[in-house]
Amino acid sequence: MKKINLGFIGAGFIAQQCHLPAFKEQNNCNIFGVADLHRDLASRVANIYEIPNIYSSHKDLLLNGEIDAVVVTLPRAYTYGVVRDCLIAGKHVLTEKPLSLNFENAKKLKSLAKKQNLLLQVGYMKRNDSGLKKFKELVEENFNQNNIPLLVKSSCFMGDSYCSPFGSIKSKEEPLSSELFLENFPSFLSEKESVGYENFVNTYSHVLDSLGFIFDHSLQLITSNISDDGFGITLFDLNNSPTEISTAKVHLNNWFEEIKIVYEHEILTISLPPALLKNVPATIKIQKGKDFYEEITLRPKWSWSFLNQAQDFISKIQKNDLNFNSLDSAIESLYLSYTIFKNRS
Ligand SMILES: NC(=O)c1ccc[n+]([C@@H]2O[C@H](COP(=O)([O-])OP(=O)(O)OC[C@H]3O[C@@H](n4cnc5c(N)ncnc54)[C@H](O)[C@@H]3O)[C@@H](O)[C@H]2O)c1
Repeated sequence: MKKINLGFIGAGFIAQQCHLPAFKEQNNCNIFGVADLHRDLASRVANIYEIPNIYSSHKDLLLNGEIDAVVVTLPRAYTYGVVRDCLIAGKHVLTEKPLSLNFENAKKLKSLAKKQNLLLQVGYMKRNDSGLKKFKELVEENFNQNNIPLLVKSSCFMGDSYCSPFGSIKSKEEPLSSELFLENFPSFLSEKESVGYENFVNTYSHVLDSLGFIFDHSLQLITSNISDDGFGITLFDLNNSPTEISTAKVHLNNWFEEIKIVYEHEILTISLPPALLKNVPATIKIQKGKDFYEEITLRPKWSWSFLNQAQDFISKIQKNDLNFNSLDSAIESLYLSYTIFKNRS
């Protein structure tokens, strides 16, 4: 199969810590170009990763006809406009989440990807966590035996997910000015609420996406009492199972993200690792047994969701697998975040 030529748009923190090392490991792609408004940053990153083409604007990178696909890691308000440019230029896209700040814009990007016959994948890398994949299998086994969850409790209290990263290169220069489309927050949000909404679509939307991945079913909002900051409890209906997501922020040296599914004869719990803790997948706990109660802990062999995500993205392009399931879940997560905040006003 033809090797995929990849372009990186944005060479900042997450590109350097996660995506560049993950894609560099893949045999079936070349990292062929890098663009950053900080030209010195693009050059230094290109030097380390032996990237032959260096640009200071994504528009110049997109003119390179040898680039098949791009990895977009930008400040959130620029993502929508740049992803739109990438799709118009005919490139497959993996972008960091959130896909946009407004779900209507996310829907426009889906229509554009469909029209252009291109893959548009959003970096909800946890769906490539091998522990979460196993958890989905366990839930499907229950579903096939007509076991319906009595309730689903999920939570993310944040904490520190970066795990003392080191080695990121920082620019020493001013960014080159460029005419970039800057997306606005939904207009009903106050300035303070915009911060909470951004928290929600940036961090807590991972939990919404994981629920979408595990159950393949959409959530219907029942009620929410979240604060301006996006902290609180939100209740949904998930195919007749009451479902909760609790959100908060704690300043602790750990990461707290969990989904617990209570069945009549079994409780399944998954604990997600800090995102930047490399090579540690999620851990599953199974609690079951009436006469003999037992607890089983499952953890797949060491692997990293970002690395699996890179492999998945390249293999989908090679197989021309333009399945929109994960994109639909990303749009749904934005829609739910929007609805939760809209219901407060
Ligand atoms: N998946 C995760 O767990 C995770 C973790 C951290 C960040 N993120 C996401 O990644 C994104 C980027 O975060 P970051 O921490 O790497 O930011 P960053 O500020 O370190 O890097 C962004 C880079 O984009 C460059 N840039 C801006 N506009 C550009 C353009 N049009 N063309 C080329 N370069 C451009 C900037 O110069 C900067 O170097 C954010 O959307 C964030 O939500 C995801």
